[in-house]
Amino acid sequence: MADPKVGGAGASESFLVARDLSVRFGGLLAVDAASIEVDRGEIVGLIGPNGAGKTTIFAALWGLLPLASGSVMLDGHDVTSWSPARRARSGLARTFQRLELFGSMTVRENLRYGTEARALGERPWRLLGGGRHQDLDLAEEILDLLELGPVADRSAGELPVGIGRLIEFGRALASRPNLLLLDEPSSGLDPAETVAFVGQIRRAVERFGCGVLLIEHDMSLVIGVCERLQVIDFGRLVSEGPTAEVVVDPRVQAAYLGSEAVGVVGPSG
Ligand SMILES: Nc1ncnc2c1ncn2[C@@H]1O[C@H](COP(=O)(O)OP(=O)(O)OP(=O)(O)O)[C@@H](O)[C@H]1O
Ligand SMILES: [Mg+2]
Repeated sequence: MADPKVGGAGASESFLVARDLSVRFGGLLAVDAASIEVDRGEIVGLIGPNGAGKTTIFAALWGLLPLASGSVMLDGHDVTSWSPARRARSGLARTFQRLELFGSMTVRENLRYGTEARALGERPWRLLGGGRHQDLDLAEEILDLLELGPVADRSAGELPVGIGRLIEFGRALASRPNLLLLDEPSSGLDPAETVAFVGQIRRAVERFGCGVLLIEHDMSLVIGVCERLQVIDFGRLVSEGPTAEVVVDPRVQAAYLGSEAVGVVGPSG
């Protein structure tokens, strides 16, 4: 893992370092002192049962919710008080548990828009200027990488959800993120699409060198793609480490995985 903190931008610690995050909804402590690190080039799974607090952690990392305690560092900067747009400009990108696409735009237009999302930050009206900031080559490269070429000129809204998930992933990649937060990207994918998606996440990380923090219930995807897992239950981190070790951790199985996962992975991973 990353070396201890040296301090300042570009220091040798992980790109994302979130410490002791707590989030309260009234009387409910939805996230309870959870710490998470992800570096560029790493694919880390954030798993746990329904209602464990995973999406709430994403919202906290993204700056959408006030923290009851804790801090978020990006690239050595304390961003705890930063707006989501400012975090985006420092290289954080996300997809949503519920698919969010520009349905009337074509697939290509969605990706082109993605290439300028980071620069636009909280000034989307600049889009009215006619896409002066778009990186057309990058949009084409991502169309190729994700094999979206055949549907490039179709409206995103008329395509099946499996393709919609890929478009959303591609649009987030187009912002050249340092860290991509993916919230259940396989929801709506069939098993074959899920297998393909594992390869696409890997290729994207190889090509762009970004880190990925992945919330996912599909354990075949998690095991296929994540080097490391962090497991949340009732808002608390109950286990973390290399994927093959975590999936056989009895605390994890008790909290979440059930006995099936042992059969899938086996004791040696
Ligand atoms: N805006 C909100 N107001 C009040 N309670 C909330 C809010 N958002 C989430 N919660 C509660 O916080 C807890 C964590 O929810 P969260 O959506 O983070 O879980 P999750 O791990 O993402 O679950 P899932 O796997 O079902 O998506 C749950 O008890 C949920 O009901
Ligand atoms: Mg969720």
